[in-house]
Amino acid sequence: MNEKQLAAEKSVEFIKDGMIVGLGTGSTVNFMLKKLSEQIKKGLKIKAVATSQLTYQLASALGIEVMDTELVNRIDLTIDGADEVDPNLNGIKGGGAALLYEKIIAGNSTTNIWIVDSSKLVNKLGKFPLPVEVVPYGSNFLFSKFEKMKFNPSFRKFEGKNFITDGGHFIIDLNLKIINDSVGLEKELKKYAGVVEVGLFTGIADIVIAGKGDKVEIFKK
Ligand code: 5RP
Repeated sequence: MNEKQLAAEKSVEFIKDGMIVGLGTGSTVNFMLKKLSEQIKKGLKIKAVATSQLTYQLASALGIEVMDTELVNRIDLTIDGADEVDPNLNGIKGGGAALLYEKIIAGNSTTNIWIVDSSKLVNKLGKFPLPVEVVPYGSNFLFSKFEKMKFNPSFRKFEGKNFITDGGHFIIDLNLKIINDSVGLEKELKKYAGVVEVGLFTGIADIVIAGKGDKVEIFKK
């Protein structure tokens, strides 16, 4: 079993009968969905909300009951992946382009668990390009601003065109190399009109489960 699968399967042990579960997005989450569907077939009773169309489709195909967010008044536990996690359990997310819906679900969840392989554990955030979700209108102005700020921006592309998120936005990835003040940077970026969300997730993860070799390590806030 690979590290992503190990972490993913461990996380399913935290899901209990009656919970409303937030389902993250990405390849690690996909392993979690498969294990969760097995548990559901064995009698586990939960409801879920999804952070992306891709997760909605896979979860539904696996027999997991996925509700509209409007029909849910609480989320007990969200399990999601991450692109980088630092020792304070702050992270970068959005490699799979679902950062906006992931942050909405995470911010409304009682507990957040991230599942990662060991390559995602870093001392400092920033090697992974920081995704910034932006409104398409006027996004070229934001791009120029980020260039002037020496953030080395690039529009995320799909089949030669700007990638479009589930929310109908573009993503500008910032190649920063190192982030010394994640809280300050998030505040700074959010000041600009047109920035919808930033892939810096600080103070959100309660538990991080990392696959390492053939074991898992569990880090708590
Ligand atoms: C999607 C995300 C993903 O959780 C993150 O990119 C990790 O993906 P993977 O599990 O495929 O490595 O933030 O927006």
